[in-house]
Amino acid sequence: MSSDQPQAETSAIVACTVSRDVQNFDLLIEDMETALGESWGDLGFNEALAFFGQSEAEALEFIAMALDADDEENLGLMGEIITQAKSRGIKVILIAEEVSPASLHTLLRQGADEFIPYPLPEQELQAAITRLSTPEPEPAPAEATHQLQADNRREGAVIVCHGLAGGTGSTTLAVNLAWELAELSSAKTPSVCLLDLDLQQGSVSTYLDLPRREAVMEMLGETESMDADLFGQALLSFQDKLQVLTAPSDMIPLDFLTVEDIERVVEMARSHFDFVIIDMPHTLVQWSETVLQMAHVYFSTIELDMRSAQNALRLKRALQSEGLPFEKLRFALNRAPKFTDLSGKSRVKRMAESLGISIDLQLPDGGKPITQSCDHGQPLAVSNPKNPLRKEIAKLARSLHDLGAGETEAAA
Ligand SMILES: Nc1ncnc2c1ncn2[C@@H]1O[C@H](COP(=O)(O)OP(=O)(O)OP(=O)(O)O)[C@@H](O)[C@H]1O
Ligand SMILES: [Mg+2]
Repeated sequence: MSSDQPQAETSAIVACTVSRDVQNFDLLIEDMETALGESWGDLGFNEALAFFGQSEAEALEFIAMALDADDEENLGLMGEIITQAKSRGIKVILIAEEVSPASLHTLLRQGADEFIPYPLPEQELQAAITRLSTPEPEPAPAEATHQLQADNRREGAVIVCHGLAGGTGSTTLAVNLAWELAELSSAKTPSVCLLDLDLQQGSVSTYLDLPRREAVMEMLGETESMDADLFGQALLSFQDKLQVLTAPSDMIPLDFLTVEDIERVVEMARSHFDFVIIDMPHTLVQWSETVLQMAHVYFSTIELDMRSAQNALRLKRALQSEGLPFEKLRFALNRAPKFTDLSGKSRVKRMAESLGISIDLQLPDGGKPITQSCDHGQPLAVSNPKNPLRKEIAKLARSLHDLGAGETEAAA
């Protein structure tokens, strides 16, 4: 090779996978190649610590640490790798396949920056890398997060929205109901808190145009020691009237949270707000029962279709076989037929009869403006106050508000 030709520099290694055997994670190999071309390497768990000390490691921006159930006995070493990486300013993406929530918990608390389940969802690695390199704009604590009073002793009503099939309007109902209730409140301090417990796909943050923040994960990861401050820091304020716990920024497994975690979070919210609105995931999880038991009102959104009917029936069987209070569910039929649609009306009646349920709430189709309003991150009351769906939700909010006020008077 002639020495007068300038050599193309071999590109520096900016990232490494760290795993027992990277061949077990072939989707990760593919995604690393797509994202970084040649400028990444792979390390075994035992090599990682030694590598950090070498000069080649200076250009390292992040490691992608991949583990499966067989690696759980090695948590100590993995924790050490994370700590060492962090102390050198190297970011850590955790990729886990069938790892217990407890182990994940431990590793996230050691300081891993991002978590992605394996098999990797499409584009997730690239999205995580992008997030690592663009620090998220944390809103200044004073303006956006809410300083909760530590000694608050309210006993808020818990109102839950649970879509029995995808896209049946659970989040639209939760967000708009929360906003309407907040608008009805005359209190000086915010009295409504909206919790997005649809941990993986939660879209409350989208519908209110709020960022998903690390603080949420930090709070959910240590509910045992959570106080009003830590809880307050995880909340974001929407127009100073509504406090919102968005879903965490990482896609965490639904069973990452335990029954106790959920109880603590909901109780904490209840003690500071008059109304706690919860948007639930579709899937039944360990803590679904907990939320059902804590709920004062539990809305199940459905539509007039086979999917909703079959899911409602399955849920009914599941709850009844466990001796859980199925009768607590209040079915909300979304995109309900208009008054003039007589055949639609009789289909609603037949659906209710065949399922043995009563459909207490009918929400009209609000057309395109609803989706637009969701995409613009605004409640309907702000963007489309005259929309029929908004009017119906406002009416519901008033009746719930009166109910709440009635209870307070009765208690006084
Ligand atoms: N009554 C309605 N009229 C018109 N559009 C609606 C109505 N209800 C919901 N939508 C639209 O349907 C879409 C799905 O609604 P939404 O996200 O609230 O449902 P979901 O049950 O929370 O869905 P997911 O399964 O994603 O959690 C959104 O774009 C929303 O704007
Ligand atoms: Mg939703």
